[in-house]
Amino acid sequence: MILYPLLILSLPAGEQCGRCKVATKRLNLKRYCNRDYAILASVLTRESVDEWARFTVNVLAVFKKGRESRLRRGSAFLWVQMEDLVCKCPKIKVNKSYLIMGNEHKDGQPGLMAGRQSVVIEWRDDWQEKMKSLQRRSRDECDDEEDE
Ligand SMILES: *[C@@H]1O[C@H](CO)[C@@H](O)[C@H](O)[C@H]1NC(C)=O
Repeated sequence: MILYPLLILSLPAGEQCGRCKVATKRLNLKRYCNRDYAILASVLTRESVDEWARFTVNVLAVFKKGRESRLRRGSAFLWVQMEDLVCKCPKIKVNKSYLIMGNEHKDGQPGLMAGRQSVVIEWRDDWQEKMKSLQRRSRDECDDEEDE
């Protein structure tokens, strides 16, 4: 593992990271309902753009997307704020595949965002069924008022 001492020292003693590591691993209907998108994607490259890490991902499956969204299979950008990435909120590595549930970039940057509120879990093939079930249940059971 490579450490980046300057980056780590610039953070106040870990307190910024909080509890997000647990949160990003949990997958349930409520969370599915409250995210703009849910995809399976493999991560191809990572670059730094200002305060952001910009991953180029290959979207392999789209389980959910916003009504206006142009999200589809194929290449896309995934943006993660550097300070979140340092906290592993979420943890994303090149050459791995993830289930990612997050929000679309709202301020004009093309692509998807992931951060503390996103769900990012290394993909396992037996989740295909789980995602189908969430997709099915979300049609009737998503409740706009709940928030997590
Ligand atoms: C990702 O995979 C490619 C092709 O197999 C390899 O060249 C590259 O070094 C890998 N990158 C990382 C960060 O593991």
